[in-house]
Order: sequence, then C-alpha cells, then structure tokens
Amino acid sequence: MRPVYLDNAATTRVDDGVAAVVLACLLEDFGNPSSSHRIGLAATRRIKAARAQLGTALGDEDGALGTIIWTSGGTEADALGVAGAARARAGRGRHIVVTAFEHPAVLGAAKQLEAEGFHTTTVPIRSSGVVAIDDLLSAVTDETVVVACMLVQNELGTIQPVAELARAVRSRAPRVHLHCDAVQALGKIPLDVRALGCHSVALSAHKLHGPKGVGALWLKQGARVTPLWSGGGQQDGVRSGTENVPGIAGFAEAARLAHAALVERAPHAARLRDRLVATIVGAGIGAIENCVGQPRVPQIASLAFPGVPAEPLLHALEARGIFVSAGSACASRDRHVSPALAALGHAPDVGTLRVSLAHSTTLEEIDVAARAIIAAAAELGGSRRRA
Ligand SMILES: Cc1ncc(COP(=O)(O)O)c(C=O)c1O
Repeated sequence: MRPVYLDNAATTRVDDGVAAVVLACLLEDFGNPSSSHRIGLAATRRIKAARAQLGTALGDEDGALGTIIWTSGGTEADALGVAGAARARAGRGRHIVVTAFEHPAVLGAAKQLEAEGFHTTTVPIRSSGVVAIDDLLSAVTDETVVVACMLVQNELGTIQPVAELARAVRSRAPRVHLHCDAVQALGKIPLDVRALGCHSVALSAHKLHGPKGVGALWLKQGARVTPLWSGGGQQDGVRSGTENVPGIAGFAEAARLAHAALVERAPHAARLRDRLVATIVGAGIGAIENCVGQPRVPQIASLAFPGVPAEPLLHALEARGIFVSAGSACASRDRHVSPALAALGHAPDVGTLRVSLAHSTTLEEIDVAARAIIAAAAELGGSRRRA
C-alpha cells in the first residue's frame, strides 16, 4: 500500500530541484557569507541570487519596495513582523489587533507583547471563515501600533481580504504597521507585495516544497522592526546570526519553481480538490464542505463530518495509508477546537478533516483517498445523522 500524503499544508516534500540546490550549497558553496574571501563571496552571491528569486515571486524583483530578511521559518518571521514592529513603535502606543484565527506564531507574539505591557484586541471570525473588514477596523484605536491579518487561513484555506483591509486601516490610521502572514499563500496564489499594501509579510519555505527551518520577512522600505535578538550584526543587524545559505538558496529555488508553475498548478489542484470533495459530499455519509462560496486556495479542502470524531477518523485513515490532518498540524494534537473551526459554528460532534494537495498529487491518489475517507467515516458513524 503506497502512502497517500495529503497534508501539504502541514509540510511538503522537498522538490528534487530544490534538494539539488541545497546540496550544492552544503558541499560546494559552503562558505560563511560574512567572510571576505572568495569562498565567502560565493555564499554571498547565493544569498543575493536568492533575494532576487524570492523578490520576483513577491512582485519585488529588484528589492525596490522592500527588504527580505531571512529567518528560521514562518514563526520567526511572524514574531519579527508583529513583536518586532510593535516594540519599535512602543513609544507611540501599546495596542495591537489580531484576528482570532491567526497562526499561533502571531498569537504567541501577541501574548509575549502583553507580558511587556501591550494589550491585544482579538477580532472574532465570521462563520464564513473570512474576517470582516469592519470588525477589524472597529478594533483600531489611536493607541494601535500593529494590525495582523493572515492571507490564507491554514486550516480552512480561505483567502482573507488583506489588500482591502490594509487600504481601510491606512486611511483610518496611517501610522499603523500592517503585518500579513502569507505562509500558506506563497506558491498557492499570486503574491504581490505592492498590491497587498502591508508593511511586513511572513513566509516559510517548507510549505512550498522548500526545506524546513527557513523563512523570510519581507519588510517594506522604511518600516522599522526591533531585532528579536542581538549578535554579529548580519542582515543589517535586524537578524543576527550566520545565514542559513543552503536553506535560503533552497527556499528561493522552491519559490522560483512555484512562481513559474503557478498558472498550471492552481487549476490542477482545483480539479483534484473539486473531484475529491464532490465524491465525499455525494457519498451519502453526511459530509459537508466548509467555507463553500468563499474565496479559497484550491490546495486546501476542509470537510466536516457530523457524528464522526476527528481523531479516530485520522487514525482510521492512517491505517489505510492516507495522511491528512484534523484542522491544522498545530491544533491536531491539541484536543480543544481551534478558533478557525469554532468560528464555523458546527456542533461539538462534528469532526473536521483538512485535506491539502501538492502539485505532485495525482488523480489516482485523490480517488484512493476519497474512497478511504468515505469508508472510514461511514464506519465511524458518518451516515447515522442522515438516516
Ligand atoms: C499560516 C502559518 N503561519 C506560520 C506558520 C509557521 O511557519 P514555520 O513552520 O515555518 O515556523 C505556519 C506553519 O504551520 C502557518 O501555516
């Protein structure tokens, strides 16, 4: 039984081309970019090329709009974009606004700020799985220094109206720093930092077939963040520490490949997602697709199973060689319902599966997974409610 991996929103397999780039940096261009000799300069060139590649995927090819700060992943990028930005503005106000279904990286940064005397307004999510601009806007006060809203919700796949939100916040409070977690957006939908209109954008390589442990914060020209730590002063002192050259080069290659193939990958994912959902919803086990009719990425399907607990469903699927998640990877070992799923307003006995696709996912895998999900859910009581 070949495993069917449909948990690509949790993490992805590294693309072969990406692995080759990482390996070349590990074995050949292994220098320290801070060294002034030619081995160090080769590493510096790798980073420079990576900056241009990732910049291209963000609509900022020559870095005219902002700077890319390499980080250890999406979590650090969020911390820098939220806590770093708030600390840099602490003299002006100590209030931040986040949505209730931000990733724990953002919510955790908010918690840390609270311990430093900031206060947070957490904006609830509508049952559509999309944040309402008015709800967020009404939370902004004269004290607000940071507003954070993610672009693609990691559990539901819904696309948030970040560009409209940024416009609305800018016109009400022009000095507020707008942070966007675009970790689940890069490689799935076109990203254009100019159109997005935020001051910082968090990214992570492992969600788009890049290596784990590397990410980036795109920081708009002129936007200030207080470094999370001090050290050797790399990356203009904003993020000290020897750069992870293999990771950075691999990240940029993954972003380049995803950007180049976006127009083919998105319709492929949409076709497979639609087939999977139609098969499962049409099977008479009472399954419902979440957030239908809302703007969503094609790679993530969120399915609700009335009367079927998520945890046993996951185990039953794993026994059949199907790897998906309940909600998100971060929430799935945690028994309480995540804010994203709570917002949908399902009854407590409704289990939710997140099925997330990769560009390499095949039709055959989708059919195998759909059959297994239907059988496992039916076994666990999925059709009872309908009867
Ligand atoms: C929306 C979102 N933000 C941030 C992160 C954290 O990224 P990383 O795993 O690179 O720290 C994740 C990963 O699950 C995510 O889905």
